[in-house]
Amino acid sequence: MTDSRPSVRVFPDREAIAEAAASTVAATAAAAVRSRGRFHLALAGGSTPLGLYERLAAAGLDLASWHLWWGDERFVASDDAKSNYRMAREALLERVTIDAARVHRVETEAGGPDAVAARYARTMAEAEGLVTAGLPRFDLVLLGMGADGHTASLFPGTAALDESQRTVVAGRVPRLDAVRITVTIPVLNAARAVLFLVAGADKAATVARVLEGGGRGIPLPAARVRPTAGEVSWFLDRDAASELGKC
Ligand code: 6PG
Repeated sequence: MTDSRPSVRVFPDREAIAEAAASTVAATAAAAVRSRGRFHLALAGGSTPLGLYERLAAAGLDLASWHLWWGDERFVASDDAKSNYRMAREALLERVTIDAARVHRVETEAGGPDAVAARYARTMAEAEGLVTAGLPRFDLVLLGMGADGHTASLFPGTAALDESQRTVVAGRVPRLDAVRITVTIPVLNAARAVLFLVAGADKAATVARVLEGGGRGIPLPAARVRPTAGEVSWFLDRDAASELGKC
């Protein structure tokens, strides 16, 4: 079991994060395809990954062996402005060649939240070369983090965060008055690699608590991402890193 400490890299700004993250994704993909014949990538939602997706679209990469997934999704139509799928479609999917059969979006139109979550979990369970030792083992999971320490759609104080059996769950997020679909901690901790992309001064205190809090207090959701056999990297901009080293 590896419990390696996260690696942390600090960049001048969001653009530099996106540039470095694009190189990391491309290199991780090449290694996965070489060794396992495919690359299972879980995309993050929110705004921070946008520059990364745009760079991946412009990089001229061969996505023939890539499988794209979403670590979480808002329970909205796939063409809704809040949809994580729509963000990735506009920034990446519409600009590259990838077989639609390997783009695994959360089909929010397929029923109620719980049915949609169960369907997504089934899709993962049946995906070629994804499940290892009973859990979906992504080659790379991209994650963001909110100022409250949430990641994917695992928010503090929610049942989704404490889910230990199911791989994908639906849940209401009171703070947002919204329903989200999300992979659970067991899936994140089964990943071969996790890359957090975090920018902005509003997250600095939370970044310091997650990375240097030493387990004091209830662990924030992002602090629970500790893959048993995988690496965690954090790409921060200077603002988000500004409280590090002060604990
Ligand atoms: C979402 C994301 C969420 C996001 C953080 C950070 O669906 O919104 O999964 O976890 O990564 O809220 O969002 P920003 O990148 O917009 O700051």
